[in-house]
Order: sequence, then C-alpha cells, then structure tokens
Amino acid sequence: MGEQKFEGRRLRSRDWFEPADKGGFIHRSWMKNQGYPDHVFDGRPVIGICNTWSELTPCNGHFRKIAEHVKRGVYEAGGFPLEFPVMSLGENLMRPTAMLFRNLASMDVEETIRANPLDGVILLVGCDKTTPACLMGAASCDLPTLAISGGAMLNGKFRGEEIGSGTNVWKFSEEVRSGAMPLCDFQEAESCMSRSTGHCMTMGTASTMASVVESLGVGMPMNAAIPAVDARRYSLAHMAGRRIVEMVHEDLRLSRILTREAFENAVRVVGAIGGSTNAVIHLLAIAGRIGVKFELDDWDRLGQGVPCLVNLMPSGRYLMEDFYYAGGVPAVIRELGDLIHRDALTVNGRTIGENTAEAPCWNREVIMPFDRPFAPQGGIAVLRGNLSPDGAVIKPSAATPELMQHRGRAVVFETIEDLHARIDDPDLDIDETCVMVLKNCGPKGYPGMAEVGNMPLPPKLLKRGITDMVRISDARMSGTAYGTVVLHVAPEAAAGGTLALVENGDFIELDVAGRRLHLDVSDDELARRRERWQPPAMAHQRGYYKLYTDHVMQANHGADLDFLVGSSGVEVTRESH
Ligand code: FES
Repeated sequence: MGEQKFEGRRLRSRDWFEPADKGGFIHRSWMKNQGYPDHVFDGRPVIGICNTWSELTPCNGHFRKIAEHVKRGVYEAGGFPLEFPVMSLGENLMRPTAMLFRNLASMDVEETIRANPLDGVILLVGCDKTTPACLMGAASCDLPTLAISGGAMLNGKFRGEEIGSGTNVWKFSEEVRSGAMPLCDFQEAESCMSRSTGHCMTMGTASTMASVVESLGVGMPMNAAIPAVDARRYSLAHMAGRRIVEMVHEDLRLSRILTREAFENAVRVVGAIGGSTNAVIHLLAIAGRIGVKFELDDWDRLGQGVPCLVNLMPSGRYLMEDFYYAGGVPAVIRELGDLIHRDALTVNGRTIGENTAEAPCWNREVIMPFDRPFAPQGGIAVLRGNLSPDGAVIKPSAATPELMQHRGRAVVFETIEDLHARIDDPDLDIDETCVMVLKNCGPKGYPGMAEVGNMPLPPKLLKRGITDMVRISDARMSGTAYGTVVLHVAPEAAAGGTLALVENGDFIELDVAGRRLHLDVSDDELARRRERWQPPAMAHQRGYYKLYTDHVMQANHGADLDFLVGSSGVEVTRESH
C-alpha cells in the first residue's frame, strides 16, 4: 500500500499496513474510520502513545493534553502517532492498594504493545505505580521506548507556609490526633495542598520514579522536575515525540538504555535526592524484566558514599517546583561526578555524562554541593538478621539518628485492622522505647504490600511530644512519609517469615550502622512458635487476587509475578483473521 518511504530495516508495522490483500484491507480500512488518510500507512514509523490518563488517577488527569503535544512532535518528524489507554493506577483512591495492580497494569502495557502494529512507544507516566508498571511492560517487549513523566503539582501553600503532598497530610493528621490542630484547619488545608494538575510535589514515590526515569536515561533531560503546568513540560513532550521517531530509525531499543550501568546510576541518584524506598522494589522488578542482574544488596552497596544532596520534603524543606528552578536531576547528576557511569546512553542519543556536563545549579539551598551535603548518608540501608533473613530496608535520611541503634520491647499488631482498633486506646501498653511491629501487610498478606508501614503513633505519646518510634513491618511506606521505619521485611509474615512469630514483649534490636535486625528470641523458642503458626486465610480465592497471591514474589525480588520475569520480545506470527 503506497510507496515504502523508509529504507533499511523493515518496521514491524509494515506487516499490518503494507499488504495489498484481505489482511491489509482490514488493518487499514477500520483505521480510516477515524479520518486517517492513505499516506499515514506509507511505511512511516507508527508510534504508540501509552496513556495512563484517568479521572480516577488525578495525578495523571492532564495526560490527554501531554499526548496531544507528543503527537505534534511525532507528525513533525514524519511518524504516525496512535494513542492508547492502559489501566491507570491512582494511589489515593484504589483499594486495597494501587501496588496490588502494578503487575496487572504491566501486563496490559506489555500485551497491548506486542499485539499492535507499533514500532516505538512513548509512555506517559506519573502517579506512583504508573511509572514502574509501564516500564516493566515495555521492558518485556523491548521496542524503542521513551518515557515522559507528567510533572509535579505546584507547591502547596497554606497560611503563608509551603506544604507538601502527603508529608503534610501525615504531619497535620498527627497534630489533629494530638489536639494541636483544629479539624476545620485540617479541612481547609485540602485545597491549599493540591492546587494544580500533577503528581505529589514532595520527593515521594512519583517524583522519585520520575527522577529514576531520567537517571536511567529512558526520559529526556529535565523530565523529572518541570512542573505539570509549566509550558516547558509540553515542549518536552513535543520534543520527545520528535525523538521517538528518530529512535525507531536508529533501532535504539530499551535494552540498549536499561543496562546494568543505568541501574547503578539510578540507585545513586535515588540516594542523592533522598528518594522513596518504593524505588527499591520497582527497580528490582524492572531489572528482572529487561534481564539485568541487579539485587537488593546492590542498593546498599551502591548507595555507600552517596550523600543526600537535595533538600526536599519528606527529608528536607523544599518542594519539586523549587527543585526545577534549582536545576533538577541534571544538576544532581553533575554533582555526583565519578559516582555516575557517564557513558550510559540515554534516549536523546547522547550519554548521561554529555547531557549533564554543563548542568547549572541555581540554588545551593535546594541542591547542595557534594562536599556540603544535606545529609551525609543518602541511600537505602538493607538490614538482615533472624527477623529479615532475605532483607528489609530503611531510609536513614528520613529516620531519627538517635533511634538508628535501638533495642526495644515489641508491641505487636497482627493486622492493619488490629492496629486501627487499638492504637488510640489510652490503656495500650506502650511507651516511646517500644518497637511497633505490624504483620500481614506484605505482598501476599495485605494483599499488595500497602503503604501502611509508617504506623501512626499512639495519641498518648503524641501528646507528650513524641514524634518518632522504631516501627517494623512487611509493608511499604509512602515516599512522602518519614520516621525510623523498617520496611519490606522478607520473607513477609503471611509467607511464614520470622516476623509472623514475633510476640508482645519480645525484644528487638535495630542496628542500622551494622545493617542488623534481630529478634532476641532463641532458635528453639522460634521453632516451637513455628510449629503452632497457621498461615492467614487469603482474601479472595478467585480472579486477579488469586493469580497475584499465588504468584507474587517477595519484596527482595521486586514483588513481580514469577511468570512475568523476563521478556517475550514483540514477535507475533499469527494473524487474527
Ligand atoms: Fe499520585 Fe502521590 S497520589 S503521586
């Protein structure tokens, strides 16, 4: 059909649109009902725009506009853009947790890309789980792929104060519980916090994953920091649309971008930005899809010597808008010097070193210099011991220094419902030296490994001015949260990990410097408790819940489904008619 416009490698979309037979008729004819003229089927690259837009995902509510700007760029460069929806994951509405559906959304992305006549893909990502879901799905196909993050909301403003998504919700809600903030003020803060389109504007999971996109090289420079409503976000989308067409001509596939070096760069950038612990799980899962050997302990090892340079909430004071005006991720990468593999290739065809060699920093309060960092240790610490033989994580920059070496009496909550039922009880036997333990909130147990690891403190301690305690669970924590919170304990309680055997009154030792998490109970006693232990009943015995709980791997393996690890490429030989 038409004249083959491009020479060299045959594009996979030609298998659909070129034949002058019944199949070609079917593929072209129905597409033409949308008003496409003959010449768009002439052999030009077909670019899929994978859109996670949804009104149920408010962080991604502006993505149709971004898609329009991507299309301008694709057309301008001689490509044929086709936008398609995929399952969207909104962090704040979905029950029991958006994380339960990350792997399901990744399957949607993967199968939609593979089943359709696409030569290259733009991923529109924003709210927390949409980024890893799209990258995981795309990695299992391995086409030329470029990700565009949606950008953060403008800074929250409340009564002359800058307030941050999530971070101030946790803070204000504790103040309401302690009686320090009236409920009417709390309610007024709602509209003051979320006042434009975009995702959470703290260095929470969405901002962290947007920075990961950029430091992996799968997004354009400045992808992470441009605010959602800034016109430059739309220019970036336009330029990304142009670039993906070139990437198809260059056959610049995702596997050439997502190398071991790229993952190492991302780990170090996450450390330097004080990024979310959720990045640990997501990067492990993405690496599993693209076939890069990358393990939980790499987080600890690669993070050594990486200071936190970025003074953003929840660890610090500023917000994403400030981060953009200060220079964004390129300024951070430049500051990291030799800790970055500067030869790692990025989607714009240049190396990450070339992209950032001259990156300026305009505000040293927001992005601090390497020799005068915001916090000396930025990375993620991986803790092992009899309580977490397969690992647990803590973010030292968000923890209280005095609590990072601590021995305390366990106060155990068997489930999230148990926690909610008892935490406000004035008779709860707890003081600030205790260690709060929450079970059955891991991948299988919740199910979906909810962000409940930053347990609220008992009001009777809040009223005494206590703001942090050691908390341990198999759950995750919102990237916007803070505290001395040990997360992702593996194996989880519902899978029979030692966490399941902890009882009230046991003593637990946390030693972050020694990377140790120890339950001070003898092996014999633990063996006796294990004999008595019964696995909890699973929430549902059908549908996706069952598929998920039957196949989800533990947190130290990225909580992907075991059968999704790896790639199937994009070859599909059978026709549909
Ligand atoms: Fe969507 Fe925070 S709720 S990024």
